[in-house]
Amino acid sequence: MTIKAVVFDAYGTLYDIQSVAAITEETFPGYGDIITQIWRIKQLEYTWLRSLMRRYEDFSVITRDSLAYTLRALGLSYDAAAFDRIMDKYLHLDLYPDAATSLASLKGMKLAILSNGSSEMLNALVKNTGLERVLDATISVDRKRIFKPAPEAYSLIEEVLGVPMHEVLFVSSNPWDACGAKSFGLNVAWIERVTPQAMAEACVRSNVVAPLTMFRALRTQMDELGVAPDHRIHALSELSSLIARYP
Ligand code: LAC
Repeated sequence: MTIKAVVFDAYGTLYDIQSVAAITEETFPGYGDIITQIWRIKQLEYTWLRSLMRRYEDFSVITRDSLAYTLRALGLSYDAAAFDRIMDKYLHLDLYPDAATSLASLKGMKLAILSNGSSEMLNALVKNTGLERVLDATISVDRKRIFKPAPEAYSLIEEVLGVPMHEVLFVSSNPWDACGAKSFGLNVAWIERVTPQAMAEACVRSNVVAPLTMFRALRTQMDELGVAPDHRIHALSELSSLIARYP
């Protein structure tokens, strides 16, 4: 079996969603961390709820709604300009430092993103961060109108790239996404960016658990969903040697 295509999750995998923390903190001093974490937790929750409710709205609507929820829940008042300034960061998220070089090292492979993001958001982000030069496709779940981890979302990979799924390596740092892709039948590499040991240390260091620590406990540790990814790596830079080991 050889790998012919490597397909990446976007938010949290190639792009650091925590990079919104500077703008949330600047706009609401003292609240940056809590806003950042509740926003992302609610954003994902809304994708799953809307998929179950069969009330699809694209990820830009969900990202706005979850930010509005977060600011309301925290009792923060704001004007449209402040709201839009925070939202705009989603189109300019920071890439993980090793993302561009890791993608460039995967020579001869088809490279793509498969993301819950809307086409418009993803295309802007990919363009703004220079990844459009290395990616063969940026695939949004939009055309299926259902979010990952629904199987229909992962089926877009073969439909768009024309590569059979046993020749695809799917890469995500989101445990729920890695499990969803494995459950669908893809080869999956999960990026464990926060080790259980780091988690345990963060919890004992203080008796007040920071919002980021709570987020990491909820969204960075492997889930108990009855499926396990094929590979556990710690950084995107490990991918080229992982792929070289495929028979
Ligand atoms: C993605 C998010 C939801 O699909 O992580 O890019």
